[in-house]
Amino acid sequence: MSLWAVILAAGSGSRLASAGLSVRKQFLMHDGAPLFWRSLRTLSRLPELAGLVVVFPPEIFDESRALLRDLLAREPVGLPCLTAPGGARRQDSVASGLFALPGQASAVLVHDSARPFLTPDLAARLSDALARGSKAVIPGIALADTIKCVDADGRVTATPERANLRAVQTPQAFDLALLRAAHARAADEGWDVTDDAMLVERLGEPVLIIEGEPGNVKITNPEDLRLLGPKEEEVP
Ligand code: CTP
Ligand code: MG
Repeated sequence: MSLWAVILAAGSGSRLASAGLSVRKQFLMHDGAPLFWRSLRTLSRLPELAGLVVVFPPEIFDESRALLRDLLAREPVGLPCLTAPGGARRQDSVASGLFALPGQASAVLVHDSARPFLTPDLAARLSDALARGSKAVIPGIALADTIKCVDADGRVTATPERANLRAVQTPQAFDLALLRAAHARAADEGWDVTDDAMLVERLGEPVLIIEGEPGNVKITNPEDLRLLGPKEEEVP
C-alpha cells in the first residue's frame, strides 16, 4: 500500500469571516505556524505515509506555496509535499487533490486542515484498518445530543434513534481506486455531498466507522477559536 494524505486548505472560512476574522482560518497563525501546518506535521509522522498533497485556495495559490516552502525549509518533514489548487466546493478540492497524487499512490487519507487536533494514534488506526482490507474507513463518535429532523418551517418531522447515529470526522481513509471512482460518478451524476464517505455510500460500497476522538473538532465558529489558546495572529 502506498498511502498518501490530501490536506484540504482551500476553504474560504465564511462562517468565521462573517464573525470578523480577516484571514482564512487554515492560515491563522498559532504557535508560530499557520493552522494547516499542524495537521500536516501530525500526518507526516505516520510511518506508513508516502507523501502529502496540500490543497490551497486558487486566489492565493502562489503565496500559499511560498509559505509552505518556508515552513518545510524550517522544519523538513522528510516526505514529498505536493500542492494543488482547490475548487468551489469541498468535494471539488478533494477531486483536485486526488488528481495531483502520483501514479504509485494506492490509498489516501483525506483530512480537513480545519481539524488541527487529530492525533497520530487516530491516523495510525485508520491506516491499520486499510491495511487489514477495508476500502473506506472513517472516524465517528457517539452523540451526546438528541438529533431532530425538521422541515422548512422548523417543525420536527422525525427523531432518529440516537444510538444509531455518529458524528463523523476526518481523516477519512480510502482505497484510492474506490475514491476516484466515487468522485468520477459524483461528477457524472451531479452529486453534492459534505464528506467523501457519502460518495462511497452512494456507490453502494461499505464504509467502516472506527472510534473518532472527541478532541478532533473542526474549527468552524468563533467560539472554536478559543480551543487554539490565547495567541493568534494573521497571515498571509
Ligand atoms: N475546504 C476546501 N475547499 C473548499 C471548501 C472547504 O479545501 N472549497 C476545506 C476547508 O479549508 C476546511 C475543510 O474543507 O479545512 C472543511 O470545510 P469547512 O470547515 O466548511 O471550511 P470552510 O468551507 O473554509 O468554512 P465555511 O464553510 O465556514 O466557509
Ligand atoms: Mg465550508
